[in-house]
Amino acid sequence: MAKLEQINVGVIGVGWVGGIRANACAKNPIIDELHIAEINPKRQQEIKEEINPTRITDDWREIINDSSIDAVVISMTPETERFPIVLAALEAKKHVFVEKPIAPTIAETEQALSIAKDNNLKMTVGYSRRFDPRYAYINKALKGGLIGDPVTCLISRNSTRELGLKITGRSKMSPASIAGVHDLDFVLWAMQPRKPVKVYSQTAGKLFSKHSDTPDHQWVMITMDDGTTITVGIGWILPIGYPNYVQAFIEIIGTDGSLTIDDSHKDIQLNTVEHGIRYPLSSMPGEQIDHVFAGSMYEEVNHFINAIVFDTPVMVSAEEAKLVMEVYSAADLSVELGEPVSLPRNDFK
Ligand SMILES: NC(=O)c1ccc[n+]([C@@H]2O[C@H](COP(=O)([O-])OP(=O)(O)OC[C@H]3O[C@@H](n4cnc5c(N)ncnc54)[C@H](O)[C@@H]3O)[C@@H](O)[C@H]2O)c1
Repeated sequence: MAKLEQINVGVIGVGWVGGIRANACAKNPIIDELHIAEINPKRQQEIKEEINPTRITDDWREIINDSSIDAVVISMTPETERFPIVLAALEAKKHVFVEKPIAPTIAETEQALSIAKDNNLKMTVGYSRRFDPRYAYINKALKGGLIGDPVTCLISRNSTRELGLKITGRSKMSPASIAGVHDLDFVLWAMQPRKPVKVYSQTAGKLFSKHSDTPDHQWVMITMDDGTTITVGIGWILPIGYPNYVQAFIEIIGTDGSLTIDDSHKDIQLNTVEHGIRYPLSSMPGEQIDHVFAGSMYEEVNHFINAIVFDTPVMVSAEEAKLVMEVYSAADLSVELGEPVSLPRNDFK
């Protein structure tokens, strides 16, 4: 049997999402040593019991300074404190998988991008929808012309206020920039080679805005360079449901047909006296059920590891992630100005 080339990987931040990624790494035979950085002692203990990694430290610098580690997955929060870790990892010549966003600003994203490019390092962002077969199918169908020329696309996604409170509690980022980015990435990917040229956005806030300046919902309207229109809506104030329930609906209309995804998770319904109706397996990251993982994160992590070992392109390029950032930055600027914003711009820094 041919010898398998193994690599060593570090995961920084093993909360909800990083925990899933660490578990995916632990099951991947291409990974020899798995190193974890986590500051929460409870999560340290839990992850130790789950996967018994080579090392658990509370200082991410230990992972970056260890030259035997080839790649890092950066899933710690808050997002606003992540860029120094991304930068240090790239400077230490490690391949990087990071949850969105790469950095708080486009200028810093460009800095990371150029270090990765100069050092021939893989850098990718956790836009997990691309690894969901339904979303991959829509991308394939659109690019293959199955519905002719796309005319318009509507995506509406809402999560519970439970998740909304978690997200808004750790940053002041807008709904589009922290949650809508997944749909923005998906639709910009599926619409390639079309490019966004105009963005208009409005927010509404009647609940969270009582205690913070975070809106409850944001609509983002995008015009592509061929005239296709896209509307993406993202909200986080649904009543508490299945822990971290998320529902979404996608509709794409073309000259020769239409494509829809009902991602509202009505396929499994659990009704109990204690909790009423719940929709299991509906959270965005997915979850482990005994021997099988329901969701796309394992596939996504394994793709990144394979890209390193086989030197193949990553699914989500840093340039694509930068374009998503330009669109949500334009949306947030549009909210501020109360008018549409044209792209490309050279004043986002
Ligand atoms: N791809 C997706 O579908 C998807 C879904 C949900 C969330 N996310 C993204 O994943 C990221 C993580 O979200 P989460 O819900 O897992 O957050 P979380 O708060 O549950 O986990 C973050 C973890 O980082 C740890 N941490 C904080 N500072 C640290 C440091 N300096 N060093 C090491 N560890 C540190 C915390 O203790 C915590 O355990 C977020 O950016 C979020 O936007 C992605």
